[in-house]
Amino acid sequence: MSEFIEPPQTAKTNCTAAQYRADYVRSLSDPDGFWLEQAKRLDWIDPPTIGGEWSFDPVEIKWFADGTLNLCHNAVDRHLADKADKTALIFEPDDPDGAVRTLTFADLHVEVIRMANALKAMGVTKGARVTLYMPMVVEGVVAMLACARLGAVHSVVFGGFSPEALAGRIIDCDSHFVITADEGLRGGKPIALNANVDAALDEHDTQVKGVLVIKHTGADITMKEGRDHWYADLASDEDCPCEPMNAEDPLFILYTSGSTGKPKGVLHTTGGYGVWTATTFHYVFDHQPDDVFWCSADIGWITGHSYVTYGPLLNGATQVIFEGVPNYPDHGRFWATIARHKVSIFYTAPTAIRALMREGDSFVTAHDRSSLRLLGSVGEPINPEAWRWYRDVPGEGRVPVIDTWWQTETGGVMLTTLPYAHAMKPGSAGLPFFGVQPQLVDNEGQVLDGAAEGNLCLTASWPGQARTVYGDHDRFVQTYFSTYTGKYFTGDGCQRDEHGYYRITGRVDDVINVSGHRMGTAEVESALVLHPHVSEAAVVGFPHDIKGQGIYCYVTLNAGDEGSDDLAAELRQWVRKEIGPVATPDRIHFTDGLPKTRSGKIMRRILRKIAENDYGSLGDTSTLADPSLVDRLIEGRVKS
Ligand code: PRX
Repeated sequence: MSEFIEPPQTAKTNCTAAQYRADYVRSLSDPDGFWLEQAKRLDWIDPPTIGGEWSFDPVEIKWFADGTLNLCHNAVDRHLADKADKTALIFEPDDPDGAVRTLTFADLHVEVIRMANALKAMGVTKGARVTLYMPMVVEGVVAMLACARLGAVHSVVFGGFSPEALAGRIIDCDSHFVITADEGLRGGKPIALNANVDAALDEHDTQVKGVLVIKHTGADITMKEGRDHWYADLASDEDCPCEPMNAEDPLFILYTSGSTGKPKGVLHTTGGYGVWTATTFHYVFDHQPDDVFWCSADIGWITGHSYVTYGPLLNGATQVIFEGVPNYPDHGRFWATIARHKVSIFYTAPTAIRALMREGDSFVTAHDRSSLRLLGSVGEPINPEAWRWYRDVPGEGRVPVIDTWWQTETGGVMLTTLPYAHAMKPGSAGLPFFGVQPQLVDNEGQVLDGAAEGNLCLTASWPGQARTVYGDHDRFVQTYFSTYTGKYFTGDGCQRDEHGYYRITGRVDDVINVSGHRMGTAEVESALVLHPHVSEAAVVGFPHDIKGQGIYCYVTLNAGDEGSDDLAAELRQWVRKEIGPVATPDRIHFTDGLPKTRSGKIMRRILRKIAENDYGSLGDTSTLADPSLVDRLIEGRVKS
């Protein structure tokens, strides 16, 4: 067991090794009993008496279906009885000299009611979809909670997405309302959020009737009469009760990329998601009442939904909301913020860890990290070297590190070690959370037992599971349940060791993970072929030291067009404009053809290997229509 590191001892933990073993067994043998008990973490208007009602063939998933509750009440109002004066949110602005804003649960309650009244004044009602395009500020969290209060379905679109991408997501769920800010700020640079909303709405046919604009930087912006409203003009303090919601009423839609087509609107419902985020937060982060929690994710991603807005607040936790970036004003920002607010639990992504590791230890050691007691990683595989640095330098070698594997579709953490119960294995996420039943299968669907490597499936439902793709249940079934009938297929490759520890090896489909952001190669290809000079494009991932994976694009041009550095730069800009900066291609490889079989199918395996600089294992290329192309592609490989 030499690769294993024993967890530190503690007098007080939410879960010991023995308790994990007993509860894990019970969560499989009596899932309904187990989850109905966990459901008591929440306040219900009508407590549920039914646990899971689900089938993966045909696909229908329900949990706690006779329960009624409201998650805004659970995240805010119910804490007023005993935590009104406890700090809920500590806002750390982009500019370290800017004003830190602290809100107690009582303050948060006031803010949520003001926001909910503003939404009502615009016409938002139960069931309406509301698109958020926000900076990472208190009002973002408040707006999500205000939607939940009214029973409206929030759809948060990351502020780094383009007007094009925003418009697509507004149209797909027929959203009539947008909440935005005049501008966002990241690393000292303004982000023209309101102008992007204007561009999205002016250039596309949407049904948006109301845009609520939060004043953040005070920039001069244009407001469209009758459509755009300043938040301060519509906010009011009058009573605004929480809407009673059935457990299976939708809570939110979040768009995420898949192997094919446009991003999907993954739908989560109220009761199961609430129970899953509340329970995972309690155990995975071993949350104690005096902790200061900080998850550095943006609310535009699932991590920001589950471990900024919902998990911590459902548990009455104190947390930091961070507007900025890890390298502004310098590479010590994370650790300066931890020292400033005495953060005890910190949760971030491997891409940030690797980028900071490269800058040297002095940026870390300059700041006091004695408040830290737990570090977490999420979003992509963390290499053992980065894992060890994270634990040894920021964590002073004394704190447990958890590597949590999960997905937009799983709602919350699925595989991890528990901080004081389990030995850690650098590079391995670890063990299944309560109720999680992982299974490895080979490409033919044969179940693999014991220590093995295969495709990761989940054989039983869990309360936090996504219920459908908004407006397209067939796509939900096709994407997740058709590869291996009767199982949820994650899209990830995975190894299981002889101790039952799981290590995620990465996506096995045409999804790439760039700095922890999920990207469909098909989306980037669609953007490229919209360019007037591009004939065909094939996009693959390649290993990237900091980002985990980079975006490598093979491009063929129309007859008569020539590839050049200028055109490559133009194509990079083009994709940024179509999708957003997160999708900026790293490498553009102009080629006179793509490797296709005689029936016209692009052999992506070959393109992946060439981009990875792994020519030894190109496999059988004899079925290619033009086998000589492979040598030309290798020769033309773009190295930087
Ligand atoms: O490939 C896995 C990777 O991120 C994918 C899910 O992306 P998304 O839905 O955007 O959610 C990210 C945040 C939960 C997974 O299919 N992934 C996530 N966490 C890990 C990971 N890969 C390895 N180790 C992890 N801890």
